Amino acid sequence: MGKNDLEKSFRKIIEGNKDWVDFVKKDTSGRFEQLAQGQHPELLWIGCADSRVPANELTGNRPGEVFVHRNIANMCVHSDMNMLSVLDFAVNTLHVKHIIVAGHYGCGGIAAALSRQQHGIIDNWLSHVKDVYRIHAKELDAIEDIEEKKKRLVELNVEEQVLNLCSTSIIQNAWKERHNLAVHGMVIDICTGELIDLNTTFTSNGSIGEIFVYD
Ligand code: CO
Repeated sequence: MGKNDLEKSFRKIIEGNKDWVDFVKKDTSGRFEQLAQGQHPELLWIGCADSRVPANELTGNRPGEVFVHRNIANMCVHSDMNMLSVLDFAVNTLHVKHIIVAGHYGCGGIAAALSRQQHGIIDNWLSHVKDVYRIHAKELDAIEDIEEKKKRLVELNVEEQVLNLCSTSIIQNAWKERHNLAVHGMVIDICTGELIDLNTTFTSNGSIGEIFVYD
């Protein structure tokens, strides 16, 4: 890419912002003035960093309505201070009602984790996905079609990340205090934009397994 192309693509970003500023200026509902005072989102979205899965657009949410954390392959890693900080703030300060872990079909991170190729430093992050494979190796080994195998790993990965979230002290303690916090696992079909519910919703620690429940 030449210098001109670089400037052109940067200008597109700045022009895009001008359009947005015009839109905000024309809005007479007062919602942007209100948003400047503070945020009260009811949803925490934990999704993939992939550019094709924008949290707000996919859920019909406007600015102020969804708190977002994204990383490669929508992982909830127990020791990830970034994710834990977002989770703690969303649950204990914003008091969100819903948390959605959103995977997506066609996820490059999942495909890379299924391969034996090295991809650089990211391999260490994707090892967490390989851990998910190990838990479900029997089922996944039996799927011969590679595309089907990828799709299933996308789903199973979401389910495991939901369990990882539910076993954090943050979620566990929140459930001791309130009953209006649900953790959902969903998958986005990037062809249609549909958000598919995997029906792995938890609203209490009822079925997550005794060892994960703190006294
Ligand atoms: Co992805």
